[in-house]
Amino acid sequence: MKRAEGFALEGFVYGSGPEKPALMLVGEAPGETEIHNGIPFSGRSGKELMGFLERAGLTREDVYITSAVRSRPYRWGTKKNRDGTTTERKYNRAPTQKEIRAHAPLLDYELAHVKAPLLVTLGNVGLRRLVGPGYKITDVHGKVIRHPVQILENEQFGWTETVYDIFPTYHPASFFYNRRVLEDIHADMDQLARIMKEKGIAGLSR
Ligand code: URA
Repeated sequence: MKRAEGFALEGFVYGSGPEKPALMLVGEAPGETEIHNGIPFSGRSGKELMGFLERAGLTREDVYITSAVRSRPYRWGTKKNRDGTTTERKYNRAPTQKEIRAHAPLLDYELAHVKAPLLVTLGNVGLRRLVGPGYKITDVHGKVIRHPVQILENEQFGWTETVYDIFPTYHPASFFYNRRVLEDIHADMDQLARIMKEKGIAGLSR
């Protein structure tokens, strides 16, 4: 993709899911596993995510999965081997604001065409991509925010006319660094199940 040239990004993962999903999930960016097999959330975070979705009564087939950036942001680092030698390898990192802008037309297109009654953001990157920098996941997780979403216009973010229902929750990887968020994620998934019931949203597989 020409607009993303010159960044430390590799691979490309397409958004995936039905045209009329129960939810659209908006993550951060794919990792190493995803850029090799092309399936979003198929690595370690994905395994956790599928467990969380199951708690809300959903499967992968019910949801459309995408992210703020669709290539893997990496940085080079040095890995120490057991035998004392070192290996240079790529590590994941968070995408920069410029990278998020470079990839923005992809998500703008999906938001306009995928008919999802609820947008579920996973972590701060997905949340702020949609509703701007003034929101923090720890403050707003587990509640519906009714808000226009950011759309790129002349290389600046503006706002959609459409107002969306957005349900922020934690990125599943946050649980690897902080086991205490697990309780919050579980409560969010229970709340998500209640909200879907109220709105009459059902998974496709039931
Ligand atoms: N995080 C994301 O946002 N997407 C993936 O596919 C994996 C991790």
